[in-house]
Amino acid sequence: MTFWRGYEKDETMNDKTEQAIGVFDSGIGGLTVVRALMERLPFENIVYFGDTARVPYGVKSVETINRYALQIAEFLLKKDVKLLIVACNTMAAVACQAIRDLSPVPVLEVIGAGAASAVGATQNKIIGVIGTPATINSNAYARAISLLDHDVRIFSQACPLFVPLVEEGWFEHEATRLAALEYLKPVKAEGIDTLVLGCTHYPLIKPLIAEIVGPQVRLIDSAEAMAEEAAGLINARQLGNPSGRSPDYLFCVSDVPYRFQTIGERFLGRTLARVEMVRL
Ligand code: DGL
Repeated sequence: MTFWRGYEKDETMNDKTEQAIGVFDSGIGGLTVVRALMERLPFENIVYFGDTARVPYGVKSVETINRYALQIAEFLLKKDVKLLIVACNTMAAVACQAIRDLSPVPVLEVIGAGAASAVGATQNKIIGVIGTPATINSNAYARAISLLDHDVRIFSQACPLFVPLVEEGWFEHEATRLAALEYLKPVKAEGIDTLVLGCTHYPLIKPLIAEIVGPQVRLIDSAEAMAEEAAGLINARQLGNPSGRSPDYLFCVSDVPYRFQTIGERFLGRTLARVEMVRL
């Protein structure tokens, strides 16, 4: 199955192999995608941009999210990346087409990846999707899933409290458990066998969500699905970095907020070494 719809093979891409993969998000949540990429593609250079000055995007208007997304894409394209990865579900949901129209390099995004994994995983064709209000209101997951299999029934739920709870580090906290019970009860009642974690922050509370929905529900972590899709594209287009050197990772942010290092390292699962503050 081809996931990177809309991009024909571009022969000029072959001289781009040592260039970095550009990954971006509204904040540090996209580091869950970087983490999955580092594991799946250990020789690839990565430049990350997190818009820490303007996060959260999930409660902003479509117009604002589009404007911010294009600014970030332009910034990464100036860094001459060979591939753009929209790690933020909210940006992928509302701004993906605009980013693709702008970008001369392939654009991958978490929603296509998560939708394809969910369709591959479901047995009873009843899928739940959780995400920020902007992602859920956009219906992007429902559209992407229906395109792949129109027999699937989809039940979506916005979980606006999850992002701040995760940023607080309350992965197992009672408050998070109560919020999760409230949000997940109606989705679970629909008899789903698959649940898409449609937000960068949710993989960090995966064990809690798993406990609430039960073992019969398969959780789709879009970060892992994204890394798999990126590996597929890099392989198919022979874009893999052949240098064999240990890769360079650069983390660009628009602000260095309170507890940035600690929270960032939780998302990344390792030390955040090279962090640069940039203005767009
Ligand atoms: N990165 C966002 C997402 O995946 C979550 C944080 C935000 O609201 O900006 O939807």
